[in-house]
Amino acid sequence: MKICCIGAGYVGGPTMAMIAEKCHDIEVHVVDLNADRIAAWNSDTLPVYEPGLSEIVERRINKNLFFSTEVKPTIKDADVIFISVGTPTKSYGVGAGSAADMGFVEGCARMIAEVCEGPKIIVEKSTVPVRTAELVQDVFNGYDKGHLFQILSNPEFLAEGTAISDLESPDRVLIGGEMSEAGKEAMETVVSVYNRWVPRERIITTNVWSSELSKLVANAFLAQRVSSINSISAVCEATGANVDEVANAIGMDSRIGSKFLKASVGFGGSCFQKDILNLVYLCEHFGLPDVATYWRQVLDMNDYQRQRFTRNVIHSLYNTVQRKRVAILGFAFKKDTNDTRESAAIYICRDLLEEGANIAVYDPQVSADEIHGLTSDKVEVCSSAEEAVAGAHAILVLTEWDEFKTLDYKAMYETMVKPARLFDGRNILDIEALRELGYEASGIGKG
Ligand code: NAD
Ligand code: UGA
Repeated sequence: MKICCIGAGYVGGPTMAMIAEKCHDIEVHVVDLNADRIAAWNSDTLPVYEPGLSEIVERRINKNLFFSTEVKPTIKDADVIFISVGTPTKSYGVGAGSAADMGFVEGCARMIAEVCEGPKIIVEKSTVPVRTAELVQDVFNGYDKGHLFQILSNPEFLAEGTAISDLESPDRVLIGGEMSEAGKEAMETVVSVYNRWVPRERIITTNVWSSELSKLVANAFLAQRVSSINSISAVCEATGANVDEVANAIGMDSRIGSKFLKASVGFGGSCFQKDILNLVYLCEHFGLPDVATYWRQVLDMNDYQRQRFTRNVIHSLYNTVQRKRVAILGFAFKKDTNDTRESAAIYICRDLLEEGANIAVYDPQVSADEIHGLTSDKVEVCSSAEEAVAGAHAILVLTEWDEFKTLDYKAMYETMVKPARLFDGRNILDIEALRELGYEASGIGKG
């Protein structure tokens, strides 16, 4: 069997690497129009940082895992084609700011229809609005090739930073298809690939629309939990309750569960916001404004949390950060990834820059270019936490990198402008211990 995946990004790269690792007899090709990205996959410095990924790529590359820019010939040659391109929020025209931009998916469908002559299974791996398979089918029909293709939905549930373990033992794999004989056969083909390492009972098959919608709903529920606990963090700060203790107490109720209850400076990442906006847009489109309003609140609470944090920082620095050095520890949207898309750090830095602060950023994996995307001469990119902190009025811990838990905060304190302040936006530090070192310390949900 030959698999081709269009899109060598955070999903396409790791997912295909895992299939290649688990199925040595399957030829797995990942193609992308972005030549720099493909060159990076073929180099020693992969474009995606994920624990465990480089080892797998090293083992399988040019054996049964290939990265190339030869999009059309590779598509033509494949039995199964995964579409794993971006589906960002539309920034223009109808639906701007909430609908998903389906341009890349449509582009893939057209390319497939143009070059393919024989039957193929087309798999939507990208996160898409419900009924996208209809759009794809319509494009194929336009080329008179609709009969050649079976369109499946197989959304990806991996989280960045844990992509390899999530792919290796997923809670479930979801495959949606047509309930016709041909549809069931196509689903069985894709089931048989995953079933090489995922137990059959964890592979769910549904109709296409349920599969497409389940992906949006899963992200909406996860983000909703973060917004819920973040809303409670504000109540904790006002009342003296401790949000970690509250999260622990409610999380031990097995009906609630303990995961995704970590209060924070707000969720980031390329998908939560985009997918909730997508759901909101769909609800509006289908005449369900009350449902749309309900889900939009999850995003409003996230905005509130980021702004609340920045306001607290400014307030505690005597209401002005003009020309003050603020050290930012962590720029990625979560630990163990180099991805900064929609990172809370970006919003907080922008607001502080607007207030006239000088920002010194250190992140263990994010490249200087990425941080300089903030486009200000008041941003300094540092190569260690100590360098960022020296001469600073305040430290803001914005990503929960493990190395930030064990820094020598006492030694750093000595290099700071007094009274030195520390704000833990990720709830990873012992605020009381930091107070003992002399910091004016506070953390989300801990006053
Ligand atoms: P990404 O931007 O990292 O990668 C997409 C790639 O597709 C880019 O490299 C781009 O050059 C390429 N591309 C676009 N059009 C192309 C074309 N016509 N031919 C060849 N290549 C093309 O995006 P990503 O983070 O991998 O996300 C992809 C999809 O997966 C999105 O729909 C996203 O919502 C979903 N998803 C992402 C994650 C995640 O953790 N990032 C998790 C689950 C689902
Ligand atoms: C999320 C989902 O967890 C994946 O299942 C999904 O496949 C993916 O989105 C996607 O569709 O892109 P990801 O965004 O990579 O994965 O990372 P998460 O671990 O979900 O974290 C998202 C954000 O929420 C991060 O900023 C994280 O710090 C924050 N978060 C998470 C909290 O603030 N508190 C928590 O308790 C959990």
